[in-house]
Amino acid sequence: MKDKILITGANGQLGRVLAARLRAKYGKDNVLATDIKEPDFDNYPFEFLDILNKKRFAEVIKDHKITQIYHLAAILSAKGEWAPKKTWNVNFNAVLNILALSEEVGIKRFFFPSTIAVFGKTTPRQMTPQHCPLLPETVYGISKATGEYWCNYFYKRYKLDVRSLRYPGIVGYQSLPEGGTTDYAVEIFHAAIKGEKYICFLDADTRLPMMYIEDAIRGTIELMDDRHENISIRSSYNLAAMSFTPNEIYQEIKKYYPNFEIEYKPDFRQKIAESWTESIDDSYARKDWNWNHQYDLQEMVKTMIKELRNILKT
Ligand code: SER
Repeated sequence: MKDKILITGANGQLGRVLAARLRAKYGKDNVLATDIKEPDFDNYPFEFLDILNKKRFAEVIKDHKITQIYHLAAILSAKGEWAPKKTWNVNFNAVLNILALSEEVGIKRFFFPSTIAVFGKTTPRQMTPQHCPLLPETVYGISKATGEYWCNYFYKRYKLDVRSLRYPGIVGYQSLPEGGTTDYAVEIFHAAIKGEKYICFLDADTRLPMMYIEDAIRGTIELMDDRHENISIRSSYNLAAMSFTPNEIYQEIKKYYPNFEIEYKPDFRQKIAESWTESIDDSYARKDWNWNHQYDLQEMVKTMIKELRNILKT
């Protein structure tokens, strides 16, 4: 039987790019995009789907004969702090429902995105190991850490083929991310290209793990394609590419825009960033399924500026 894929949160920063890549691989009609908002770009076939509506979720799976799910819909770290209970509901209760539903209907493969937000002050900050103490301080981090445990449980208990990555901050030109602590690393490009000064909500020296979107999408598809026996981590894989500070990315962008100015006005997101780690040891991903990143800071900045100039027509 042909695989039919459902993506939740398919209009989001990762979802829109993933949908296009999966359509190129599996055929347009075999990838169903879903979201709570109508897409403002070509993201069809598309269905409205509120992930909290289990009955509707089950109908969509049945109607479209879905065999794989990429469950991307979530409220990110900063936005989540404004509505902790709602965030828990969306980021965790819905996940548990969808895992249970997937097991019931025999979904063949399930992808769950986790994050560096699962780490906390008890986690080693440099080269954070795969297995380490997690004490997340945001509701987003708490819900993703708990989600990881349940993914592992559904694999062990029910043999549901769940695969997951702990994404660092993702930088891409296709859209502006919404509600995250790492969003500055995308916003800064928009300001530079429009000739505006950038007001950065993190301090100049706040180092965080980051990744260019091409690497993140390729890594996701490679993990989902890999042979079952190679996947030793069923909670969520550490995944790394680069780490940088706002000042370091600013200096790199300045090579292209020498007059570009930045001002640092840290807000509540500074504390969130400080509760995460600076760099990640992703040796399990590299060993198990040959993960390898391709973009470093220089290459990413060069590509982002080229692509975004095209979109913003400057
Ligand atoms: N990019 C996310 C955020 O900032 C982290 O996973 O919330």
